[in-house]
Amino acid sequence: MAALHALCFTTPSPWPATAFRNLLNDPLCFALTEAEAFLIGRAVAGEAELLTLAVAPQARRRGLGARLVTRFLYQARLRGAGEAFLEVAETNQPARSLYARTGFSEAGRRRGYYRSPGGQPVDALVLRRSLPNAAQPGST
Ligand SMILES: CC(C)(COP(=O)(O)OP(=O)(O)OC[C@H]1O[C@@H](n2cnc3c(N)ncnc32)[C@H](O)[C@@H]1OP(=O)(O)O)[C@@H](O)C(=O)NCCC(=O)NCCS
Repeated sequence: MAALHALCFTTPSPWPATAFRNLLNDPLCFALTEAEAFLIGRAVAGEAELLTLAVAPQARRRGLGARLVTRFLYQARLRGAGEAFLEVAETNQPARSLYARTGFSEAGRRRGYYRSPGGQPVDALVLRRSLPNAAQPGST
C-alpha cells in the first residue's frame, strides 16, 4: 500500500508503511482493494470518512476509483454511517470529478492545509454526502 501510495501522491505527501500498519490494526478502519488500487475508510459514531484512495497510474480511467468509492459507501452504511466525509486537495481535479460523480459536495475548506512539492500552500476541500438508510448491495 505504501509503495502504491508513493506512486499516487505528492499533495498530500505519501504515507509511510507504518501509517498503513496502524490503520489496518484499527478496528474502526477498513481497507477495500482491487488489483492495482485500494481505499481505506473509517466509520465511527454514525459518520464515515474516506481516508485515502489510490489507483496505480497505469490502471486509471477504467472505473476502479469509482468502484472503490461505491464499495466504500456500501460499507459505510453497513457500519451504521448516515453521512460520509473526505478531504481532497483543491488542485486535484481528477479526484474532485470522481467525488462529484459519486454524490459528494463541498461542505467546507481548510485553508493552506497541504503543501505542494514546491512548498506552496494548497487548500483542502471537505466533501460530504449523506447515505440512505437501507444498505442495498450495489446501490449508492
Ligand atoms: C483520483 C483517482 C482515484 C481516480 O481513479 P480512476 O480509477 O482513474 O477513476 P475512474 O476511472 O473510476 O473515473 C471515474 C470518474 O472520475 C472522473 N475522473 C477520473 N480521472 C479523471 C481525470 N484524470 N480527469 C477528469 N476526470 C476524471 C471522471 O468523471 C471519471 O469518469 P469517466 O472516466 O467516465 O469520465 C486516481 O486518479 C488516483 O489514484 N489519483 C491519485 C491519488 C488521488 O488523488 N486520490 C484521491 C485523493 S483524495
